[in-house]
Amino acid sequence: MLLSSSWLIDISLLLSITVYILYKYFSRNYDYWKKKGVYYLKPKPFIGNLYDVITFKKTMAHWQQDVYKSTDGPYVGVFVFHKPVLSLRSPELIKEVLMKHFDHFSNRTALAPEHNQIFANTLFLLKNPEWKLMRSKVTPAFTSGKLRGMFPILKNIGHEMNMYLNKNRGLLEAKDLGTKYAAEVIARTAFGINARCFDEEKSSFYEIVSLFFDFNWKTAASQTAFFFMHGVANLLRLEFVDINAVKYLKEVFSCTIEQREKSNGKGNDLIDIIVELKKDKEFCNRMKFEGEKIVSQPMQFFAAGVETTSSAISFTLYELCIHPEIQNKLREEIRNYLTENKEITYENLTQLKYMEMCILETLRRYPALPFLDRLCNKDFTIPGTDILIEKGTLVYIPLLGLHFDEKYFPEPDKYNPERFADKSTLNKDGLYYLPFGEGPRICLGERFAMMNVKIALINILSQFAVEPTSTTPVPINFTKKSFALRSDVGLPMRLVECN
Ligand code: HEM
Repeated sequence: MLLSSSWLIDISLLLSITVYILYKYFSRNYDYWKKKGVYYLKPKPFIGNLYDVITFKKTMAHWQQDVYKSTDGPYVGVFVFHKPVLSLRSPELIKEVLMKHFDHFSNRTALAPEHNQIFANTLFLLKNPEWKLMRSKVTPAFTSGKLRGMFPILKNIGHEMNMYLNKNRGLLEAKDLGTKYAAEVIARTAFGINARCFDEEKSSFYEIVSLFFDFNWKTAASQTAFFFMHGVANLLRLEFVDINAVKYLKEVFSCTIEQREKSNGKGNDLIDIIVELKKDKEFCNRMKFEGEKIVSQPMQFFAAGVETTSSAISFTLYELCIHPEIQNKLREEIRNYLTENKEITYENLTQLKYMEMCILETLRRYPALPFLDRLCNKDFTIPGTDILIEKGTLVYIPLLGLHFDEKYFPEPDKYNPERFADKSTLNKDGLYYLPFGEGPRICLGERFAMMNVKIALINILSQFAVEPTSTTPVPINFTKKSFALRSDVGLPMRLVECN
C-alpha cells in the first residue's frame, strides 16, 4: 500500500523514519554524562566519540591521549558508540579503581569471544571469580626461584643472539631482533621448546610468530571490534590475530603438554603447572578445564610476552641510537658490570641502575599496552562526590596521556632516563606511571620481562653500537593498524662493532 502518490517518496519517507528511529536509539544515552554533571566530549551521531579511531585517523592510544588533554579535571566522559565510558585523569582516582576498590573493577572490557575458547580463557580476558583462581595457579611460574633457574637458558639465548648479530652486522631491524629474542625466551623458558629463532635460516616458529603479530588492516578492524563492538565481533566470529598462527601454536602447545605428561619429566616452567592442573579434579570441574582451554595460558604467555618484550627492547635501542651520549653512558655501565662480576646472575642484575632508568624511560614513552581498561561490576561512588559510576560502565586509563603530562614528567617529549634516578616519589600520591598496570591485575610477567630486556641489552650493547641511518624514522610515525605502539616503517638502524 502506498503512503503517497509516488513509490519514490514512500521509500524516502520510510528510509528517513528508519534513520530517525536508529538515530534516536543510538543517541539515547548521549545526555548521560551531562545529567551526572560530568565534563564530557560531545558525541557524534551513531559513533559517539570514536570517529578518529574507526576511520583509522588515530591509534586508540593517541585518541585516548587527546581525550586526556581535553581538560585538567579528574575525569572525562566519552561515548563508545552509544555506551558511556569514563576516562580517568586523576592519579588518586586511578589508585582507587585499580587497587583500593578492585572489587568494583575486577574485569577488563575487551571481548572474551564465545567462538574462540582459547582466547576467551586467557588470564587477560578471564572474569572474576575464574580469573582469581587461575591467577593464583599460574603465578608460581614467575617466583624468584623460577627466574633464577631460567638463567642458564637465558645466557644460552644471549650467546645465540650474539652469534647472529656477528653474522648480521650492518643494517639492523631492531623490532625484528627484539621479536626473535622475545619469542625464543618465552618458548624455551615457559614451554621448554627450542624455537631456533636465531640459528636457522628460516625458523618455522619465527615465521608463525611474525604472522601472529602481523597487524594489518584486517586485524586492525577486528581488534577495534574486540574493544568497541563486541556484538559485531561475536556475530562475524572475528579473530583478534591470524587464526592460522593460533592453530599452529595450539598444536605446538598441545604436543608439548602431551609429551611432558608421557615422559613424566619436569621443565620447571608453565607446562609443569598445566600438567598438574589437569590432574586436579576439583579445579578441572570448577573451571571446566578441558579441550582448547588447556592451551589458553600458554597462548596467553606467548601473546602477552613477545610483543611487549620486543617493543621494550627495540624502542630502547631506537632511543639509544638517536642519543649516542646516553648509549655510551649505558655501555660504560655494562662493561664495568661485566668486569666486576664473573657472571650475570639474577641477583647482580640490580647493579645496572642506569640500564633500569633507560628501560623505565622507554616504557614511559612507549608503554606496550598504551591504555588500561576496567569494567565496573558493582556501583561505585567517586570519593568526595555524589557521582555514581554505575555497574556496566567502561573505565579507561590513558597511559600515554599520563606518561606525557608535564605535571608528572617535565619536558615529556625528551628521552631523559635521569628522571627515574630517584624512584622514591614516583606514584607517591596516586598512580600516573603505569607501564605494567597496577593492583591485583598488574602484569604477571613484570619481573620476568625486566630481566629479559636487561639480558638482551647487555648482550647487544657490550659488543656493538647502534647508529641511525637515513631510513631511521625521526620522529616515529605510529601505525594506525595496531592497538599497540608500533612504528609504521619498523625501526631500522645500523649495527657496528664497538671497541
Ligand atoms: C616489557 C614487557 C611487558 C609489559 C610492558 C607488560 C605490560 C602489561 C600491562 C600494562 C598489563 C595490564 C595490567 C593491568 O591491566 O593493570 C599486562 C598484563 C599481563 N601481562 Fe604483561 N607486560 C609485559 C610482559 C609480559 C610477559 C613477559 C608476560 C608473561 C610471559 C606477561 C604476562 C601478562 C599477563 C598474564 C597479564 C594479565 C594479568 C591478569 O589479568 O591477571 N607480560 N602486562
